[in-house]
Amino acid sequence: MSGHGTPHPMTSRKSPPLKGVADIPGDKSISHRSLIFGALSVGETRISGLLEGDDVLDTARAMRAFGADVIQHGAGDWSVHGLGTGGFGEPDDVIDCGNSGTGARLIMGAMSTTAMTATFTGDASLRSRPMGRITDPISQFGARSYGRTGGRLPLTIVGADRPVPIQYTTPVPSAQVKSAVLLAGLNARGETIVTEAEATRDHTERMLRGFGAQIETDVTPQGRVITLIGEPELKPQEITVPRDPSSAAFPVCAALIVPGSEIMVPNIGLNPTRAGLFATLIDMGADITFENQREEGGEPTADLRVRASSLSGIDIPPDRAASMIDEYPILSVVASFATGTTKMHGVGELRVKESDRIDAMARGLETNGVKIEETEDTFTVHGMGQDGVPGGGRAVTHLDHRIAMSFFCLGLAAKKPVSIDDAGPIATSFPSFLDLMQTLGAHYTRDNL
Ligand code: S3P
Repeated sequence: MSGHGTPHPMTSRKSPPLKGVADIPGDKSISHRSLIFGALSVGETRISGLLEGDDVLDTARAMRAFGADVIQHGAGDWSVHGLGTGGFGEPDDVIDCGNSGTGARLIMGAMSTTAMTATFTGDASLRSRPMGRITDPISQFGARSYGRTGGRLPLTIVGADRPVPIQYTTPVPSAQVKSAVLLAGLNARGETIVTEAEATRDHTERMLRGFGAQIETDVTPQGRVITLIGEPELKPQEITVPRDPSSAAFPVCAALIVPGSEIMVPNIGLNPTRAGLFATLIDMGADITFENQREEGGEPTADLRVRASSLSGIDIPPDRAASMIDEYPILSVVASFATGTTKMHGVGELRVKESDRIDAMARGLETNGVKIEETEDTFTVHGMGQDGVPGGGRAVTHLDHRIAMSFFCLGLAAKKPVSIDDAGPIATSFPSFLDLMQTLGAHYTRDNL
């Protein structure tokens, strides 16, 4: 929900080798989609392993507000009685998406082709993020929107009463934009076609196909062209949510930089549109093995064994950005402990995430003694070697869970303790993070305000 309570400052410090098994919660992207697609199906969708982070809980509340029956049966075990495509009812209050760009953008797309009005808001972070990337395409379907300057939340959408399908090329590599257009297309008769120049995460395409939609992806010289036939009757599903590789990134990277560590991270989804971090870490010299490789719920999955490693800086090309877009903050931490320079290219989208992540990482690393350089869409970290990061600084997290977890990890291997101003946002995606890190052996304290 919008606004976070009292800040939770925290300090992490040099830790003994991390050891043990890191159980990672359900994938955030797939959890949002399970609830939303369930709400658009006719009948009961059962979900196990749902991520019960604040972002996803906000989406569950939103689906109830549009009329779906969303019930929690036990930890991670949920059901959604859906309403069918075009079946959303008008909510009688503002939809508060909290911190979640994914929740806000996908739900805006999903309701925009049904004749009703809904108003969306979120916390200070979400209210600062660009929504023109959604209001532009949905206006082509016939929806109208009234937001603040720059299309920012709070924003009211008047859904199209006679939606027309569209052909749309995403102006930025964004799975949220692609998904919003496809969800809008569900309730428009005919073919909605989305082209993306760079492949972004494809959970929407895979899952909509599972729910019975006719959706096809062609790989062309222009990129991926996704064609959806509107007005399907979506059939309810039994979904087991895989574990989130973006959350796994934090214990994995912590184990790489804390000398002597060895951890096991079971059941991690390795969809190629999400797995760029692991490829990059291996390029840097990381000792990660993928054990028990298999398919689960249509997604490649493996158990990861990770051992502390001495790493070298590398150049990360722009075409890897989409497959690791959420992992650059923690990669920047890893790069600080590498030998040599790591330069990340084509990362301008980081400036419009839960925070301006280039700025947040730059300032936080500088205050901990790491030299960086930034441009609008590159970020360079000058590695200081395994035992060379001074630490001793206080990082500002700007309501951004991934910034908070990244600096927490920095403190586990830096010479001096590292403080973060607020660990509260971690609950949006990884509520069990601090307990898990403690089990693995991480040293940290909760500070008094
Ligand atoms: C997401 C897409 C990405 C990612 C976000 C989740 C999704 O955002 O950063 O955490 O579930 O579709 P963009 O679409 O803005 O790249």
